[in-house]
Amino acid sequence: PRRPVVAVDGPSASGKSTVAKALAKALGIAYCNSGLVYRAITWSLVDKGVDLDREQSFKSAVRSMKLECRIEENELHVRIDGKEVGQEVRSPAVNAAVSRVSASPWLRKRLLPLFRKLADDRALVMEGRDIGTAVFPGTRFKFYIDADPKVREQRRQKQGESDSIEERDWEDRSRKAAPLRCAADAVFIDSSRMTVEEVVLRMLEELR
Ligand code: C5P
Repeated sequence: PRRPVVAVDGPSASGKSTVAKALAKALGIAYCNSGLVYRAITWSLVDKGVDLDREQSFKSAVRSMKLECRIEENELHVRIDGKEVGQEVRSPAVNAAVSRVSASPWLRKRLLPLFRKLADDRALVMEGRDIGTAVFPGTRFKFYIDADPKVREQRRQKQGESDSIEERDWEDRSRKAAPLRCAADAVFIDSSRMTVEEVVLRMLEELR
């Protein structure tokens, strides 16, 4: 990256989105949720009824998608086939399929330049599963946010989502291509007993 990147990785409902967003705001830089891109692609595949078990159909559907990522008002916006993605990418159907889609090494390779390009002309906080390990392995600023599975289930339920995060996490951790794991040089934060403010303060201290 030509500009500084803060990588924030961790499992679902660890609180990483909330803290990554707050950290970006505190630093006055852009916030990028890489999961939004995987969700947008998954949503489009589900919407088109693409059979994910058929590799050729999957690849040709992805190839024919028009995917646009841009940062506006310090936040990542994603458009797919000209349509801005919104809350529909948080649906149970997308939750159920996204880890299968994102396990594709072919897809991950295709998205890598797109994510890296975002840091060409601005500093940013990027959140995901493999930002510190695969997307920006060279950045000096890496965090891994975790929390007890019980706390994570509670947080997810508070967000009004009922489906289990366990399966998705397992898939994200066990896939071959860029699995979820804490980079050796990342600062590990267990947020189970911390407030959002405490986590952000801790991150700001580390960055200083
Ligand atoms: O962060 P979020 O829960 O919205 O991400 C949705 C899914 O996208 C994850 O469960 C994971 O399968 C995939 N993802 C990924 N790599 C990233 C970000 C998200 O594989 N950097």
